[in-house]
Amino acid sequence: MKSVIARAPCSTANLGPGFDVFGLALDAYYDEVKIIKKGSKIIIESSDSVPLEPEKNSAGLVIKEMVKEFKIKSGLLIKIKKGVPAGFGMGSSAASAAAAAVAFNALFDLGLDHNTLVKFAGIGEKASAGSIHYDNVSASVLGGFVIVRTDPLDVIRIDPPKDLVLCVAIPKISVPKKKTEVSRGVLPKQVKLSDYVKNLANASAITAGFIKKDVELIGHSIKDIIVEPARKHLIPGFDKVKSGALEAGALGVTISGAGPSVISFTSKSADHKKICKAMEKGFVAADTKCTTIICRPSKGAFVL
Ligand code: HSE
Repeated sequence: MKSVIARAPCSTANLGPGFDVFGLALDAYYDEVKIIKKGSKIIIESSDSVPLEPEKNSAGLVIKEMVKEFKIKSGLLIKIKKGVPAGFGMGSSAASAAAAAVAFNALFDLGLDHNTLVKFAGIGEKASAGSIHYDNVSASVLGGFVIVRTDPLDVIRIDPPKDLVLCVAIPKISVPKKKTEVSRGVLPKQVKLSDYVKNLANASAITAGFIKKDVELIGHSIKDIIVEPARKHLIPGFDKVKSGALEAGALGVTISGAGPSVISFTSKSADHKKICKAMEKGFVAADTKCTTIICRPSKGAFVL
């Protein structure tokens, strides 16, 4: 085989109380990475606005590490097509990293297991977030709902309920270059034990909701009293966006990943357009426009 193309979905991380632990792949936007055996160096090509130096690009960093680990001699041309908006809490860097790991695995017929693919894809997060976290990449690689444990890395995947529908509002604001690093910088270093207990209870209930395929239980447990309060000032109109969506019938609302997108968890029978309108209204009250999307969970990265 001379070349492989892989496509990976965007994702939402945290789902409220599951900071750095929960991820959910979303059938909304996809990144595509093509790897071609060519020349003697690693070259990145893209018509989208992404860094072209391999160590600054999430897909490039993954491929560099894999080349080193598997002692690949051939040069590689990497073509990246971005579909996931970058910097909005939709797992954009993770989608490229996941597609890169899956394409590389197929191109060199490595037969890597899920945890190993996630481990390599996670390295790509360093390029944009400054540190490795595996929630978005796990969702992008495996699809569905994921629970990440580290030391040692172990990802558990659960099929989401068929009637789970997400409404996402992506505000049109300019985000800092190292947005994830910035939004991790505002987080408390220590938390109150009683807050930890509440978040743990809700996180456990979310997991139970996915196992039981109970959308109401999932939605009503999207409650985070640690990370969301520390970050919400970075999102104009967040409180109005959230209360509006809840009044319009969303079961639970929180920041998507490190933000600034806001995600509503809803059932199939909800009025999704009404929820999107309410989120839009909340942003408009803070002089901010937004794009809204209605989507479902997605399967994971795949080779075309
Ligand atoms: N769990 C990470 C964070 C996700 O919230 O910082 C970043 O996309």
